[in-house]
Amino acid sequence: MQFKKPYANKYLSAAIAACLLSAMTTSVPVSAEEILKEDVHGQETAVEQMSLSAPPSDVNVQEPGLAQSAEESAENSDVIDHSAESKPIQNEFLKEGEGIPGTEVPYHSEKALTSKEWAEIDKIEKEIRQLQRQRQEFFKARDKEKAEKEKAFAKSLHDRQKYSIVFDPEDYTAKTMNANGEPVSFRAYEHLVYTKKPYEPEYQMLSVYIPEGYFKGESINGFTAETAPIFMPNGVGGYMPGTIIEPQEDSRHGGANSALYALSNGYVVVSPAIRGQSLKNKDGYATGKAPALIVDYKAAVRFVRHNRKKGRIPAGDTDKIIASGTSAGGALSALLGASGNAKEYLPYLKEQGAANERDDIFAVMAYCPITNLEHADMSYEWMFQSANSYYNAGPANTENPDSQDQVSPAEIRKNRPPNAPKEKVTGTKITPEQKEISAELSQKFTEYLNSLNLRDSIGNRLNLSPDGLGLFREYIESLYLASAQEAMDRGDTIKNAPWLTVENGTAVHMDFPKYIKSVKRLKGIPAFDAFDMSSGENSEFGTYDVANKHFTRYALEHSNFVTIPRLEEEAEINKEKATLYRLATPIENAHLRKANLEEQMEKDKLDLSQYMANWEIIRMMNPMHFIGLEEVQTAPNWRIRHGALDRDTAVAIPAMLALRLKNTEKSVDFKVPWGYGHDGDYDLPDLFAWTDRISKIKDAAQEILKSEKNEASAKENVE
Ligand code: DHB
Repeated sequence: MQFKKPYANKYLSAAIAACLLSAMTTSVPVSAEEILKEDVHGQETAVEQMSLSAPPSDVNVQEPGLAQSAEESAENSDVIDHSAESKPIQNEFLKEGEGIPGTEVPYHSEKALTSKEWAEIDKIEKEIRQLQRQRQEFFKARDKEKAEKEKAFAKSLHDRQKYSIVFDPEDYTAKTMNANGEPVSFRAYEHLVYTKKPYEPEYQMLSVYIPEGYFKGESINGFTAETAPIFMPNGVGGYMPGTIIEPQEDSRHGGANSALYALSNGYVVVSPAIRGQSLKNKDGYATGKAPALIVDYKAAVRFVRHNRKKGRIPAGDTDKIIASGTSAGGALSALLGASGNAKEYLPYLKEQGAANERDDIFAVMAYCPITNLEHADMSYEWMFQSANSYYNAGPANTENPDSQDQVSPAEIRKNRPPNAPKEKVTGTKITPEQKEISAELSQKFTEYLNSLNLRDSIGNRLNLSPDGLGLFREYIESLYLASAQEAMDRGDTIKNAPWLTVENGTAVHMDFPKYIKSVKRLKGIPAFDAFDMSSGENSEFGTYDVANKHFTRYALEHSNFVTIPRLEEEAEINKEKATLYRLATPIENAHLRKANLEEQMEKDKLDLSQYMANWEIIRMMNPMHFIGLEEVQTAPNWRIRHGALDRDTAVAIPAMLALRLKNTEKSVDFKVPWGYGHDGDYDLPDLFAWTDRISKIKDAAQEILKSEKNEASAKENVE
């Protein structure tokens, strides 16, 4: 690569002008990573170029010898590292005097500088130092302002009342209820604060319910006071605060609700309330933003372990804790199950005085989990991009209502959880601009999906080609076909499924676009991280002082509230800048560095942390990041359901969760049940048949272990 000086100069001055003019909008690091990413196919030069310059210490540089092909890196990495998207943007450039790589000689090194040129460089260097001082001052002032804000917040939290987390076995109410025709007697220990320094005591409380039989030494459904599994349902929906699920005789689906059903089957029930996005304390600070929800669920588990271990809670096996939830609550139960004992949550748990115990659990029931939020938009477009209208009650496009589409079938709309988004009767037409965004997001999904390296039960890699087709899509279709087949085998009549082909009683084919047309697309574009930050998820990712934030780089780039360049544009700009720096004469180099610093100072004014959630928090809300990590204890048993009519999130979301769990040797029962929309708790007999089975297998295994131990020690005694 030989650059001619006139060309380089022309390029350089144009670029300097562009840098200065576009100071507000350009950004980002010429980091080694960026350059390497461009050349993943192994062009040696890129690697060598980087090895010539000593990188700044905070820039992550790949060792030359570690260069991987794109395929290798996809194989080796578990997921795309989206942290790069939300980490603070930095601006580091190569330093003066670097040569053109390879065998080529730095073109400006041939000629010594004149004293006039040295003087000019000196002058610019001085100006640069002056700017650097200004920048330091700016940061100092901003840090001070932030510190004051945080101090006021801390003060508002300081006066929190302290609570005891000692369970009192004498403080209960004896109750009897009718569970589907059978009387069930139990003791209710109600409204116990589960953490010593709660932010919101009313939402950091739980109730414990224990079948009365265990106080008489009885066994129920094969369980005893010692072996009874502990069922822990949560009542979270819409990432709103969740209230305690009390045993109920008449649930939404008729008959006993999950808590009462569990009691009637000999389970101990622990039902926590949990903070959510909308909570505010007396001073107006938000107290339920992420990761509050999962921190609370974990604190409740720790409370149970703590008090059961001390013998205060009179029954229940803490090695068999089963979490259950629906929608956002399903996401939470999955997250609790995935992230057992993960250290990231410890500071939060400690700060609010949670018991110092393990928080891993035995099993997860996740109904229609609204999870993996930073990939939910791309997943949704991959699935729903063929739709021409959507039906959620966002801002309506009244000028262009789509008269062709009908309202979604009644069975889809009924039984939606209370805090789920509402559905409109009239569709909103999707615009050509939205279609473009949809296509782009869908394309991003194929990259993400392939990075997961998911495999089916016989080891085939479930990939997608750039057009969104491939084995993963076939796997998804097989879920719907299996669902229809199961319904038919039960004797159900298949109705309202023009997308399904049945031949001789066998479900053989699904027409995906026809399916979408039939169930109707619920959500707008993007479905979760809204450009106007209006979604429940935007609120969930807010902070104590900022109500709503983005949680994907893509939505940040398209935000109604801030202008930053696209990732792809940045990469291009950085590549050009890197070339400029390599070719610059010392004077040009000094000019470049000054222009760059000025550009950076403009960008500093735009504090992106006000618009974008912190990456660590986004990560702490997504079970996908914890499954397969050696240092966490992911629950061994999973039951995941996503109704065949659900459109609140793409079926790919629970499917990826299920596959990842299976691929890491967890036991997973994943189905897309026929006839259900966005809903949960509709199959309690099946749910508890499953929890019975996994619990009894565990008990049997324990028994075998125990008798082996006994035998061994008996043998020892004889000898
Ligand atoms: C729920 C539903 C949604 O569509 C969503 O985006 C978030 C939460 C719910 O029902 O909990």
